[in-house]
Amino acid sequence: MHKILVTGGTGFIGSHTVVELLNAGYDVDIIDNLCNSKAAVIDQIEKITSKKPTLYKLDLLEREKLNEIFENNQYDTVLHFAGLKAVAESVENPLLYYHANLGTTINLVESMLAHNVNKIIFSSSATVYGEQDSPECFENMQTGSGITNPYGRTKYMIEEILKDVCIAHPDFSVTLLRYFNPIGNHPSGLIGEDPNGIPNNIMPVITRVATGKLSELQIFGNDYDTPDGTCQRDFIHVEDLARGHTCAINHIHPGIQIYNLGTGRPNSVLELVNAFGKISGHEIPYTITNRRPGDLAAVWANPSRANTELGWKAKLTIEDAIRDTLKFLNLRK
Ligand code: UD1
Repeated sequence: MHKILVTGGTGFIGSHTVVELLNAGYDVDIIDNLCNSKAAVIDQIEKITSKKPTLYKLDLLEREKLNEIFENNQYDTVLHFAGLKAVAESVENPLLYYHANLGTTINLVESMLAHNVNKIIFSSSATVYGEQDSPECFENMQTGSGITNPYGRTKYMIEEILKDVCIAHPDFSVTLLRYFNPIGNHPSGLIGEDPNGIPNNIMPVITRVATGKLSELQIFGNDYDTPDGTCQRDFIHVEDLARGHTCAINHIHPGIQIYNLGTGRPNSVLELVNAFGKISGHEIPYTITNRRPGDLAAVWANPSRANTELGWKAKLTIEDAIRDTLKFLNLRK
């Protein structure tokens, strides 16, 4: 069976994908610098799958150590999740983001090319679409303009870099997976989203409120042109997202492939908050505050290409994601 290298494999989406890969029979090595995750995730992965992936604690900026790993292993495919993703931090410290996201990807691809590893699946984001005329995103839309922060621009730039590598190396295969808004966790409750420090994304903020670590949620604006005035997003269960990667591995071919991984169904921030209150039995206290700069009113995927070409479809709902999150938090009724 193919051996796969997963960068960022102890993080939120990475760890769920590692579980999926191990269950599908792949041999998995992980590289992670553990800047926003814990080595103990490996033990949780082992509890779920009865298999223990090898973890190399390494920053992808450490070129020599990275090359050594490629010298000592024969990888078939690289899944590249590693990167920084806090939007506000990227505005304050753009060079950190360009180093961490672009520098690491360039090192990684150079090492791959030097060792004849020619398949990469990259964790891109719906952020590359920027502001469009329509909230529904299609892969063939123009990307790159109207991105509101350096984090988002790193995702766009990496996509462009990988496209150029494909032109220069016709045997190289790149799959860009554009994630929408991942939530939820493995149904065992053994792994989940556990960011260090103050979270930025909506679900970890809700869970901090549910566990009493934050007194209330601030909803950033209820005067958007949406059905209830709060923003609409395409919240996708991380289990569906993880499965998207195993489907994508089966459809790798030379050149560039791009897929949206989303449900195609928008839900509002208020709908998510109310559903959490209903399912958990604990209302989430919130106040409505000003809009957050850079937020778009509504963004969702058109997932038809992934549905048709990869045979992949998101199956789970926000209610499933909330139930699994409660299990991770040990708050299940
Ligand atoms: C953001 C990034 C996206 C990135 C994703 C994952 C932008 C504009 N967005 O998506 O690129 O891929 O995170 O890291 O670059 N909200 C609140 N209160 C909170 C937190 C969030 O009301 O405390 C609202 C936001 O205003 C937004 C929605 O919840 O409407 C979702 O926010 P968030 O989870 O941060 O995701 P995005 O901004 O969609």
